[in-house]
Amino acid sequence: MNFEHLKPQVLALTENPSAVEDTLLAICKLLKAEVSHYDWVGFYFKNGDKNELKLGPYAGAPTDHTIIPFGKGICGQVAVSNKNFVVPDVKAQDNYIACSITVKSEIVVPIFVDGKNIGQIDIDSNTLNPFSKKDEEFLEFVCAKVAVLL
Ligand code: SME
Repeated sequence: MNFEHLKPQVLALTENPSAVEDTLLAICKLLKAEVSHYDWVGFYFKNGDKNELKLGPYAGAPTDHTIIPFGKGICGQVAVSNKNFVVPDVKAQDNYIACSITVKSEIVVPIFVDGKNIGQIDIDSNTLNPFSKKDEEFLEFVCAKVAVLL
């Protein structure tokens, strides 16, 4: 998968002045529509001064997991590790929160503002082992552009 053609589309959204929530939702919809192995795309953000994540804009099926404590699941682990987490097969993970039985893999990339991990982009895939370094690089690009808005 080549992500280069998507970068200008992400930039067009982040550089277009509109409400942050609208921009984030538009990014979720763009990524879900354009990348065949992205089946759920959403943002989680640190919930105020609590050690938990709160669901932000997303594209895909609604999830019950609107609040995730730090340390729990893939998302909660990224909130404390500050590192990308690529899960080729969710069945191989003990600390995993299932959102849907169709999900086979997941990638979470943190968002940093002034060096602080303030949230993340979370992507679920119904395909086994679909993510490569290119996904990580592209999603780091997306997170860097989103960080400027926050
Ligand atoms: N699977 C995630 C929970 C969030 S859903 O994927 C939307 C996790 O283990 O943290």
